[in-house]
Amino acid sequence: MSELRVGVVGVGVMGADHAERVVRKTAGARLVAVSDADQGRAEKLAAELSGGTAGRAAGGTSYGNVRVFADPLALIAAGDVDAVILASPGFAHAEQLFACLEHGKPVLCEKPLTMDAASSLQVVEAEHKLGRQLIQVGFMRRFDPEYAALKELLDSGELGRTLLLHNVHRNQTSTPSFRSEMIVRDSMVHEVDIARWLFGEEITRITVHTPKPTSLVADGVSDPQLAVFELANGAMADVEVFVNFQVGYEVRCEAVAERGSATIGLGSGVFTRANGLAGAAVPADFRVRFEQAYDIEVQRWVDATLRGEIDGPSAWDGYAAAAVCEAGLESLSSGKPADVALADRSEVFG
Ligand SMILES: NC(=O)c1ccc[n+]([C@@H]2O[C@H](COP(=O)([O-])OP(=O)(O)OC[C@H]3O[C@@H](n4cnc5c(N)ncnc54)[C@H](O)[C@@H]3O)[C@@H](O)[C@H]2O)c1
Repeated sequence: MSELRVGVVGVGVMGADHAERVVRKTAGARLVAVSDADQGRAEKLAAELSGGTAGRAAGGTSYGNVRVFADPLALIAAGDVDAVILASPGFAHAEQLFACLEHGKPVLCEKPLTMDAASSLQVVEAEHKLGRQLIQVGFMRRFDPEYAALKELLDSGELGRTLLLHNVHRNQTSTPSFRSEMIVRDSMVHEVDIARWLFGEEITRITVHTPKPTSLVADGVSDPQLAVFELANGAMADVEVFVNFQVGYEVRCEAVAERGSATIGLGSGVFTRANGLAGAAVPADFRVRFEQAYDIEVQRWVDATLRGEIDGPSAWDGYAAAAVCEAGLESLSSGKPADVALADRSEVFG
């Protein structure tokens, strides 16, 4: 196979972004199909990206070379779709992932793998039974050049053993339907993956604190939140997640090691002095901060898929993150530390 024919399921914010990335920025891949619960949204995107006009096709409509499937499961099953990008909401992932496994389709699944640890483990087990890895999870920070350089530095041993991580994760504002649980499941999940990846260890316990909330959210919503992760080797990571920070999108990570520390995310792009102010811009949108990470993620996924491999976070990584977030939700509601209930990896993989 020299060109990967990609179908995208769910073309909201992330899916439309990925579909456009496949069309405009990714070598060795071609967008051939899209599907969304909102058929009109899928049709509009297919028309925009293909430049074609509507025609009839098996399973729905087509625009140029891009077919629009009313049913996402039909897209996954289609013989001329080699691989799938899953960017539907988390609640739809389990069924769609099982369909990808059933049809032997490699899939780049946006986080979360599924909505809970039990169904994520079922996905891991079903993939293991197949005997080949088809699932890569969209923890794109691992592909961000700054995070990748930090990982390389820590793994080199130059700073000695890594002891602590301090993380900051701030967004400008949330949607009106925002709930406290979303901080753990949708935002903090990225730091969960980063801590597991940078330390190369599982998280065994999590405590989620709820400090004085901002007055700019509805009563009862805990924003910001402060969490502490304890890792299997005794190391610790803390993370502040503040979704209604107002200023913009900021992600920082400082690793403290035996002989020094290293920080990424200082936003040291173009530093200007003008009109009595000095500083750099803070983007409002996470897609600006992590654009390069998404581009590299999708290109490396395409390259690896063409070789019959994955090259990034696995289904196990998605499961482990789900298990930590589940414990995080327990801690958020009890106010106490919660142990992470993670299956024994050697038992799962035999
Ligand atoms: N990696 C990241 O940085 C990142 C950032 C944002 C979102 N995400 C993840 O990406 C996924 C999509 O998030 P989003 O922000 O694009 O959401 P969104 O609401 O903008 O888009 C979701 C789309 O899926 C469609 N949809 C709903 N049910 C569906 C179904 N059963 N099958 C197919 N399509 C369906 C909706 O109509 C919508 O167009 C989520 O899993 C989310 O957690 C990841």
